[in-house]
Amino acid sequence: MSSKKTSFLSRNLFEHEIIKDSVFLNRDIMTPHYIPSKLLFRDIQIKEITTNLAPLFKGLRANNLFLYGKTGTGKTATAKFVLREFEEFASKNKTTNAKTIYINCRIHNSKYKVLLKILANLYPDKDFIGFSSTFLHEKLMEYLDENSMKLVLILDEIDKVKDVDELVYVLTRCNDDLANASITIVGISNNVFFKQRLDPRTRSSLCEKELVFPPYNANELKAILSERVSLAFKKGAVSKSAVALAAAIAAQESGDARTAVLLLLRAGEIADSLQKKRVEEVDVLRAKESVEEEIILSMINTLPEHEQLVLYAIASLTIAKKGIKKISGFSSNNTLSQLSDVVLISGEIYEEYLTIAEKLKGNAVSLRWFQQYINELEMHGLIAVAEAGRGFRGNTRIIKLAYDAEKIKNIIEKNFS
Ligand SMILES: Nc1ncnc2c1ncn2[C@@H]1O[C@H](COP(=O)(O)OP(=O)(O)OP(=O)(O)O)[C@@H](O)[C@H]1O
Ligand SMILES: [Mg+2]
Repeated sequence: MSSKKTSFLSRNLFEHEIIKDSVFLNRDIMTPHYIPSKLLFRDIQIKEITTNLAPLFKGLRANNLFLYGKTGTGKTATAKFVLREFEEFASKNKTTNAKTIYINCRIHNSKYKVLLKILANLYPDKDFIGFSSTFLHEKLMEYLDENSMKLVLILDEIDKVKDVDELVYVLTRCNDDLANASITIVGISNNVFFKQRLDPRTRSSLCEKELVFPPYNANELKAILSERVSLAFKKGAVSKSAVALAAAIAAQESGDARTAVLLLLRAGEIADSLQKKRVEEVDVLRAKESVEEEIILSMINTLPEHEQLVLYAIASLTIAKKGIKKISGFSSNNTLSQLSDVVLISGEIYEEYLTIAEKLKGNAVSLRWFQQYINELEMHGLIAVAEAGRGFRGNTRIIKLAYDAEKIKNIIEKNFS
């Protein structure tokens, strides 16, 4: 029997049928859930996290860690990668009882929900829903103490926890009362303003050690993509220039590996739908707009409600003003990813936001929070902000929307309907 035949038979018949007419060998490898077994350009971060957690296996305490960097810089992938190694070593190492729990705070977004999630993991047969958080806290302490457990808690997207100061306080206080057990927190966030928001005491306990994840450049993204493509696509099914283009687009926009991977996934799907044997630059270009939309959609959906309403106010005003420009003959073609040509002033946005928030939610945030939200929207690249300069009052800032106003308005409207 030829080796070709053997490899055909070694594949499931249905799997074979599905990939027969596709550029993909294993499409799953291009999806966000996949954790790569090899992480490029993150050696320093991997080493730092490992060195920091290793003392737990010697019966000592470890520092709490705070990992931050822009979206798509590999924070989650790196943390999960190290956790896998940690768990593997913990299962072999009989002298120390150590364990990791990964929590996505986008879903578990309050102190209570995080505590519930921890207990669900520690006591899989019990249901603690409805018990007070004091009770949950006591059960957690009891478990750790009885098992002399060194627990590593990964709080991914920790900025999404509403009462984060209280959560960090409760968890770190556990350590004061535990002799042979401990909790080490690994907090992760892509929000550069998150630290400023914290109570100084929380900040110093959560950020005992900090680790930055810088954006990737085009060459790094190319290497990351090439590695992924060799596993996910059939041999020769993606042209080198398509890989380079996806890397260049992602590097230019944000240095975000998620965008880069998603571009090639969608480009592969487009090639399949056109029954092409090879993914080329043109497919990456075709994929660009839908990927941009996907990324913006998921970003907007994770913003706090009132931050969405501030963005909604900006989009509404932009549309209203664009209407005026059109009538007066000043309109220009405003395509997605181009900055809007409508310039707004922070004061008028706040007024508009107040009206919208009162109508939809019956309350509104203070001017201070509003300014914070403007900073965050700029950080996410959804708006561009500049100081208004002379001729304007004090803190006035001028603001432009970075994406299509109609699309943004539609996305947010769905969230509030
Ligand atoms: N160094 C790397 N090598 C290989 N793949 C990577 C690397 N960094 C990131 N990726 C891939 O890029 C995607 C995004 O990475 P990840 O989810 O870790 O980003 P993140 O920093 O957690 O972003 P966010 O702040 O939005 O949660 C994932 O598919 C991940 O597998
Ligand atoms: Mg992440």
